[in-house]
Amino acid sequence: MKEGSGRLALLLSGRGSNLGAFLRAQQAGELRGSVEVVISNRPEAAGLRIAQDAGIATAVVDHTLYESREAFDQVLAEKVAQFKPDVIVLAGFMRILTTHFVNRFRGQLINIHPSLLPKYRGLNTHQRALDAGEHESGATVHFVTPGLDEGPGILQTPVPIEQGDTAATLASRVLPFEHKLYPYAANLVLTGQVSLKAQGVVWGDEILPAGGRLWRPN
Ligand code: GAR
Repeated sequence: MKEGSGRLALLLSGRGSNLGAFLRAQQAGELRGSVEVVISNRPEAAGLRIAQDAGIATAVVDHTLYESREAFDQVLAEKVAQFKPDVIVLAGFMRILTTHFVNRFRGQLINIHPSLLPKYRGLNTHQRALDAGEHESGATVHFVTPGLDEGPGILQTPVPIEQGDTAATLASRVLPFEHKLYPYAANLVLTGQVSLKAQGVVWGDEILPAGGRLWRPN
């Protein structure tokens, strides 16, 4: 892939604020590639509208129409492959992908998760961080591997928990960090600076720790 010319496919299930962040980065000339397609498993996802308004191709693969996860993933994988993406960005895509899907796109598939992985995989991350009495939460961008939110981290950014925080206030404070973190991390993959190898995530001569490198936006 030529630097700056990467093709992105972005998968989402809902609101699409991270998609908005990618589009703003692209428009500002800060994304080392372009969003070629936005695919959703939910026809009513608000993120599809954001893509359409930006003139980006959209597709829906409605998971409720398939008898099995395997059948859904097969169609989804073919749809993704049609657009020949270099990097596939999961941005609030709330379906667990099969091992077959994940392995087909190994090294190209990245996700953002609203916690400091490996802490709080799965759902309700902010509430669980609060319940555990944590002093900070945050977000992690990681390569996707077959286990849920188990893939090795690329970058993660911490966000302090404040007195009186609820899951909602914490989520709304973490989100703007996600919007800075995710396009930045995607650039590292698009430009080949960071890659997934057998030994983990490799950045230059370094093998990154499980959660990825700590990163704070300017
Ligand atoms: C984001 O907070 C993202 O981290 C989270 O869903 C939200 C999607 O928001 N993803 C996960 O929880 C994945 N396990 P968005 O649709 O506004 O980008």
